[in-house]
This record gives sequence, structure tokens and C-alpha cells, in this order.
Amino acid sequence: MNTPESIERLNIVLAGHVDHGKSTIVGRLLADAGALPEGKLEQIKAYCRRNAKPFEYAFLVDALKNEQAQGVTIDSARVFFRTGNREYVLIDAPGHMEFIRNMVTGAARADAALLVVDAQEGIQENSRRHCALLAMLGIRQITVLVNKMDLVVYRQNDFEAIKTQLTEFLERWSLKPNQFIPVSGLNGENIVQRGASMPWYNGWTVLDCLTAFQPTKSPVSKQFRMWIQDIYKFTNDGDMRRIVAGTIESGSLQVGDHIMFLPSGKKSSVKSIEQFSAPPRTTVYASEAVGFTLTEQIYVSRGELVAKTEEFRPHISSRFRASLFWLGREPMIVGREYLLKIGTSKTSCLLEAIHNVQDGASLELKEGISIGRHEIADCNIQMSKALAFDCIDEVPASGRFVIVDDYEIRGGGIIREALEDKQSHMRERVLLRDYKWETSAISSEERALRFRQKPAMIILTGKKDSGKKPVAKALEKRLLDDEHFAYFLGIGNVLYGVDADIKGKINSREEHLRRLGEVAHLLLNSGAILIVTAIELAKEEIDVLSTLASPDGILTVWVGKDFPTDIRFDCVLDSSAPMERTIQSLMKIMQDKGTIGA
Ligand code: GTP
Ligand code: MG
Repeated sequence: MNTPESIERLNIVLAGHVDHGKSTIVGRLLADAGALPEGKLEQIKAYCRRNAKPFEYAFLVDALKNEQAQGVTIDSARVFFRTGNREYVLIDAPGHMEFIRNMVTGAARADAALLVVDAQEGIQENSRRHCALLAMLGIRQITVLVNKMDLVVYRQNDFEAIKTQLTEFLERWSLKPNQFIPVSGLNGENIVQRGASMPWYNGWTVLDCLTAFQPTKSPVSKQFRMWIQDIYKFTNDGDMRRIVAGTIESGSLQVGDHIMFLPSGKKSSVKSIEQFSAPPRTTVYASEAVGFTLTEQIYVSRGELVAKTEEFRPHISSRFRASLFWLGREPMIVGREYLLKIGTSKTSCLLEAIHNVQDGASLELKEGISIGRHEIADCNIQMSKALAFDCIDEVPASGRFVIVDDYEIRGGGIIREALEDKQSHMRERVLLRDYKWETSAISSEERALRFRQKPAMIILTGKKDSGKKPVAKALEKRLLDDEHFAYFLGIGNVLYGVDADIKGKINSREEHLRRLGEVAHLLLNSGAILIVTAIELAKEEIDVLSTLASPDGILTVWVGKDFPTDIRFDCVLDSSAPMERTIQSLMKIMQDKGTIGA
């Protein structure tokens, strides 16, 4: 689908308690605004008569599903309709849980909201929860539709009562609706046409309101962002090109653009833009699913965030402060491990700390170490590795995350602030290093083909004298015998050479590690498989090496029996086992990781 920049797209979410008339209003709006295909309304009415079903405007939305009609298209919960050079996307999720899920997961990214309240039933618990979510997500343009006015005989007093009540409630979230409109979805009053039944009202109709809504503008929201969904290889023999595929979250991409992949920091340029069974394009825009090829072949994988090098750079960290909405039946607890997803990237995470928790319906504010169902928390999240992301006020499209537990989405939220972690400082230096890096005329892929291997660092760690070095040397020999390019680097070799000036100085461990990481980076860049031995490396130290050398090419092996529990090893070796078997199992792991061929 083509999305030229001249078309302005406005996402409007319908919020409100179950059965208060959201879908009816959407159906009415389409019908009365003339957005329906010719004869569609009659066709559905006739169908209802034949099947002895009362006609409902809400059916229109269902009946139009999967139909690509002129002027209006509908998918699961979204209705697209266009007037002039504006396209409206009305997001109408069926039911309360679906609404919450949509809002929390970011499926519904709204510029504005229509909050529907039944004139007879008034404000219900879910109306309140929806308001809380709108506030948390920073949706500031809200219009309240007091629906089913026919049921209260179009009485102004009933309308005013709800208006007063809701104004007060919304104020506590610092939300101020721009309009309150009394409507009847059923009879089409004040939806597109002004009705005769409420002479006391002479304000806007719902359609007037849509026209007045403005797209949300954030300072850098036009930045290009895309999560890698997949990497496809061309199937022709000898064709080395890869297609990087994904959906553009924001901004646009053009052939020739310089781009970077984060958190790896790899760089390249766009060579061509490819779309399935469509002619090549030179520019593509937000919300399009695209693939592109690169001028320099580099290894990147699913989960990296693509940005343009000259634009505002996403944050990279393993910590952030968030507003989080919890959906799980069991509360979310400080210190417990969960799975976190931002775009297509994922990692395990901990709820590090809670600043405060608020119940969306009662607005009661409390402190604690857990977040209950339907509560909103201001909290810090600690991930087990650094990911790339944006803050919600910078680039909303990549400033959201969801929390998964037991394969179910249990919560989600928006990123308020990137927090520093222990690596922040070093990561900045590495980004600068990579930015300034003079790239060779030989691509990493060409090297990989020549050496029949991907560069990797095998870290053998364990207690003193646990037998690391003999394993390292035997592995190096075996790789060389198999005609690979491998190199064993003992820590001592760095210590007395590269590190000679800081050897023995107190507090120099970090600098030792940094230098080892930089040496490793050079060797990995040359295409080698580097084998390093070191005594009892801690998780943090392995993180440092991974930040400096390569986030994806590290293999950690513990040699010896009693191993610490805070590090994730790719394997634990029993040094008393026969060497041949040990080497065999290491070769197998390297094959499984794709470092060497099978
Ligand atoms: P969910 O999707 O289940 O959350 O409900 P909804 O908010 O989309 O409500 P829907 O539009 O399905 O309407 C619910 C019921 O209210 C239907 O039977 C409608 O016919 C009825 N209804 C909607 N609007 C009006 C109205 O203005 N007046 C009257 N009398 N009934 C209405
Ligand atoms: Mg509905």
C-alpha cells in the first residue's frame, strides 16, 4: 500500500465501557458520512430482515471486514476511511480486555480518543480504567460522547450530570476533554447531522470533532525507525545479497540512506528497496512492510533497531524508567524475572524498583513491591542485556514495551526515560569508535566466506588451574587442522604487553578488560575465531567484553565443576573428561551457533 506523505493519517481510538455503543457510533459515522460503498447499507438491512435479526449499525463494521471497498477498509479492529487528504483510522476494539491489550501493546497508537459513555448507565469502572490508560499513554485530545440520549428522552440534565462527573474525574489525570457531545448512535443524532431532538445543544457533531483533531507532534517523531523482523537470502546460487525485512515504525527510508543497526552499532547504506511482487521503489514510509538490501554486507539479525546515522540516535541501555500497566492475574513483583519485548527484540528482565502504583479506577496512590491487576506503576525495569529503544516523547513508535509471562502478554507500557547502566559510558565510546572506524574494502561477509567461519570469541573461564589453557590450545589446534583461522590469546600475553603501563596498579581491572576487549575487537574484525582464557570472569566482565568486541559472537565456557550461578554459560566443561571429547563438544556448539559449518 502506498502512503504518500501528502496524506495525513489520524488514529482515533474508541474507549468506553462494554455496550455503551462504540461500534454503533462507528457504523453510524460511516453510513452518515457517505463513506460506505453504494448499496451496502441496504444490503445489510435486507440480510437482517431475511434472517429475522434486528439491524444494528455495529454490524456494518463486521460486514465490511475483509472487504476492500472504495473509501473504507476494515481489518480486525480498525476502520480506515478517507475524506479529502486525511485518512482516519478508527480503532474500535471489541470488548474491554481487547481494548486494554491493544492500548498496552501499542497495537492502537492513537492521536486522539472518543470516550463513549452511556447516558443511562453513566460512568462505569471500565470507563475509568480507559481514562487512566489514555492519560498514561499521553493521549491529550479527548472528546466525550454521551450516547444513548434517546434512552433518557434527550434530557439536558442527564447530559450535564455526566459531564460534571467526568470532568472532575478526568481532571485528576490532568485530562481536559475538548468537547462533550450528547449523541444517539441509534438514531444518528449529532453524529454527522445535528438532530432535532436536542434543541438545547448547538455545539459540534462527532464528525466536526474528528476534523478538528490534530495529529500528535513530537519533536523527533519523524525519525526513521524499523525493527528487523527477518533477514532473507536471495535464492539464486552465488547471489550474496540479503534482504533486511521489517515494518517501518516511523519516518521514511530512501535508497542511498546511511543507516545503523542497534545495539550492535553496525553501519551500512541502503542499496535497493524491495517489496514482494511490486516494482522497486526509491522511498518508503511509516507503516509499510518493506525489505531492503545493503551496499556492504554485514551480519545483523532479528531484533536490532534500524535508524539513520544522521538522525537522532535511539538509546541503548539495559535500564529504563517506565509507566507500566499490569494485566496479569498474579501481581508483578519486584525482583522476579519476566520476558520483555520491545519491537522484535526480546530479553529477560526484572522489575527493579517501583516509585509508586496507582489503581486506574479508584486513583488510589500507594507504594509497594508489587503491581496488581489493572494497576499503573511508575517503575524501573532492568533488562539482562542492553537493547535499543526510544523514549515515548522522542519517538513514540519505538518507546513501548510489553511484558510476557507464561507465553501471555501480562503487561506493557511506555518508556519515560533511559537510565544509565554500568556499561553506558563504555557503550558511548564504542559507538564513537565504530562511527570513526575506517572500513576495509573487504566486507566481513567476504572474510567469512574465505575462512568458512564467522568471527567469534570463545571465552574459557573457571577457577585457577582448572585446566582452561590445555583446552584452549587443543581447540586452537583442532580448528587450524580443519583449516579455520583461529588464535589463542592468553590473558598474560596482554598483561605484559598492551597492559604493561598499568600492570599492578590498583583499580585497573576495568582498564585491563577494556584493553582486552579492544584487542579482541581487532582480531574479530580480521575474521578470526579468538580463544581467550581468564580466571573466574564475572557476568559484568563478560558484558564489558561483549560490548567492546561483539554482542553476538561470544561463546562463554566454564571449565571445572563448581560454577557460579549468576552467569549464563553456553556450556560447562568437565576438565577431567578426555580432551578429544571436550573438543568435540566445543566444535558442536560452534556449529550450532553457526560459527563454523557442520
Ligand atoms: P462492545 O464492543 O461490546 O464493548 O460494545 P460497544 O460499545 O461497541 O456497543 P455496541 O455499539 O455494540 O452497542 C451495544 C448495544 O447498545 C447495541 O444493542 C446497540 O443497539 C445499543 N445502542 C448503541 N447506541 C445506542 C443508542 O444511541 N441508543 C440506544 N437506545 N441503544 C443504543
Ligand atoms: Mg463494539
